[in-house]
Amino acid sequence: MSIKNSFDEQIIHLKEVDSTNNHASYLIDNQQDAGVLCGKIIFADYQTHGRGAYQNMWLSECCKNILVSFIVCPDITPKDQFYISKIISLSLVDFFAENDVKAQIKWPNDILVSYKKISGILIENSIQGNKINHSIVGVGVNINQTVFPNGLKATSLKKITGKEYYNLLKLVKNLWLLFEKYSNLYKIQGYQAIDKKYFENLIGTEKFMRYKADGKEFEARITDIDEFGRLIVKDKTGDEKIFGFKEVEIIL
Ligand code: BTN
Repeated sequence: MSIKNSFDEQIIHLKEVDSTNNHASYLIDNQQDAGVLCGKIIFADYQTHGRGAYQNMWLSECCKNILVSFIVCPDITPKDQFYISKIISLSLVDFFAENDVKAQIKWPNDILVSYKKISGILIENSIQGNKINHSIVGVGVNINQTVFPNGLKATSLKKITGKEYYNLLKLVKNLWLLFEKYSNLYKIQGYQAIDKKYFENLIGTEKFMRYKADGKEFEARITDIDEFGRLIVKDKTGDEKIFGFKEVEIIL
């Protein structure tokens, strides 16, 4: 994935927008030479229609959290597109570590701290033939918000550390730099270094956890994530099962 130019030149800061991912997609659709958008960062104080995975909404109080979409032009073939998710997930794990917080990845697109969600990822790729023209890497990170709707197992950086206030733009810059770091690691060293670190930071690799698929619950342990980003688990009898996105839910 090649990322060019400096953060300050690349950021577009909006007060309010429907969704930063929608805005990124609008820019791509309306720019003749869409290549100039590679590396742009769309950051918003508030989203009126923030989107989550599986058609869910992403709700975030105004001006308290990171709502950002990175537009990147990754040198990754469509079959390897889950590496974009791995790269941003690892960037987020390091981002929290830099803030003295141990975060873990919940396959496929969530970041949790003590099993509570602190960040969600929504990646939208425009694919043409065997090429990803653009990838919109949308990330929501709970930072300064401390109250969440009832029933939501969510947390934020402020809730965990107790620090009074975090400067959001500074944090977005740090996240971007980490995203650059892992993009370069993938470019230079290939998939192995990324796979290893991803697996090390994944929830469910060390112990058996509960899963639900086809309405049935079972216990299993993650043994691998395959090249297509599918989850491979082994149940207690040693049987292996492979699941694509939306086919299985981890019960926490
Ligand atoms: C999820 O966990 O369901 C994914 C949430 C992704 C939310 C971010 S916030 C910035 C970007 N814009 C959106 O509309 N969604 C993503």
